[in-house]
Amino acid sequence: MKTIETKKSGDMPTEDFRRFGHEIIDWIADYYENLETFPVLSQIEPNELKNSLPKSAPEQGEDFAEVLKDVERLILPAVTHWNHPNFHGLFSTSGSSVGVFGEMLAAAFDMKAMLWRTAPASTELEDVVLDWLRQMMNLPDFFEGIIYDTASVSTMHAIAAAREKLNLRIREDGMSGRTDLPLLRIYCSEQVHSSIEKAVITLGLGQKSLVKIPTNERFEMETEKLREAIQDDKSAGYLPFCVVPTIGTTSTSSVDNVERIADICERNDLWLHVDAAYAGATAIIPEFQKYFKGCERADSIVVNPHKWLFTSFDLSVLYCKNLDMLKKAFSLVPEYLKTSDQENVKNGMDYGIQLGRRFRSLKLWFVMRYFGQEGLIERIREHCRLARLFASWVEDSEDFELLAPVPFALVCFRARPKNVEDLDAFNEKMMNEINASGEAYLSHTKLNGKFTLRLSVGSIRVEERHLRKVWDLLNENIKA
Ligand SMILES: Cc1ncc(COP(=O)(O)O)c(C=O)c1O
Repeated sequence: MKTIETKKSGDMPTEDFRRFGHEIIDWIADYYENLETFPVLSQIEPNELKNSLPKSAPEQGEDFAEVLKDVERLILPAVTHWNHPNFHGLFSTSGSSVGVFGEMLAAAFDMKAMLWRTAPASTELEDVVLDWLRQMMNLPDFFEGIIYDTASVSTMHAIAAAREKLNLRIREDGMSGRTDLPLLRIYCSEQVHSSIEKAVITLGLGQKSLVKIPTNERFEMETEKLREAIQDDKSAGYLPFCVVPTIGTTSTSSVDNVERIADICERNDLWLHVDAAYAGATAIIPEFQKYFKGCERADSIVVNPHKWLFTSFDLSVLYCKNLDMLKKAFSLVPEYLKTSDQENVKNGMDYGIQLGRRFRSLKLWFVMRYFGQEGLIERIREHCRLARLFASWVEDSEDFELLAPVPFALVCFRARPKNVEDLDAFNEKMMNEINASGEAYLSHTKLNGKFTLRLSVGSIRVEERHLRKVWDLLNENIKA
């Protein structure tokens, strides 16, 4: 390995930084242009990358050109290309070029936004950008937002705030070793994302505090069963405190009836936290507003611009009706972080477990300004149109069937060729073969006991021809 003479102090010389910086941007531009030439899923075997890298860091600094060569030689083959237009697994999410610029500048500034004083730009831009997004989503102006890394973390903070609102001195005295606390109960549907359960585990509430309400044939929470469960729990001496409906569940993108659930929450004085991590972005489109009825009555809502707003990972937004409840749960200011202006400014560290926070709002600001509201609406609307188109092909085919409604841009379906008995095994094999080919990536779920294929449309580069390609692959596979 070629080494270079590095000085004992200081950063890379500006001239080199400029040269490599240009090279890297060129590299990324080529990468974006040639994305479709790569297999969607990395084709390496487990541990292949690890085994091809040295066991310890180099003693001497290396020529950065050599490092970049290794990106091409070793890292690139180990990349699963989330930006590939045929990435249809999980939720298909992709960043955008301007998001990359946002990340570059945020890294260059390297601010730690714990205090307004340490990061005025990050603190104030975050407020502005989240207010823009709030307006775009048609949420009332009493909602104030805060950025976290992921929806899992946003939801954990929301549930902590809901618990704090109970005034049970849990912040001060904890939950363990106490005989004066009833079992706290939180409700969601059986289709809920695992992050809710993880939040419950993290907060020491215990999995038995989480009640999963059954869903109807459209995979939506049965609100009558929710009402009964709350009544039963109250009769048993438990303390219901929070309900988490989802707009766009992970398995099928089903939509819980937030309006009806808000009625139940208000009647029982429960915190209403809406998980709109995936589908929240569609609230910016007028014809999708129908799914968000009742959100104006929520205590908190999570939406992930890193899922469907072309903002590179990570950036999750938590909107709260009363952000001070988060502050009450988390604010703790040691002497060294006290500032003379703390009464007049918003200090990000007060709203969660993190001290330093990244300058994430910059990339979202770039995305909003570059695409504009219209550009974002058009792109997401087109994804939904493409998903409906794909669903129509499934419906019109004798060899396939839809297994869930398609409210957004996720299609749940399976093959059911006449001559096949074990449809689960058949569909699983077909999915694995398509994924292994590198041509496209589909994921799966289980619905009513059936192995179900999931095709998500969300890449900023996706076009009708990409869906046609998947459809052809599926049909070829059936005939093979
Ligand atoms: C409905 C829903 N909620 C929460 C999450 C968790 O998202 P994150 O990866 O940002 O924690 C997901 C992830 O797909 C999701 O689909």
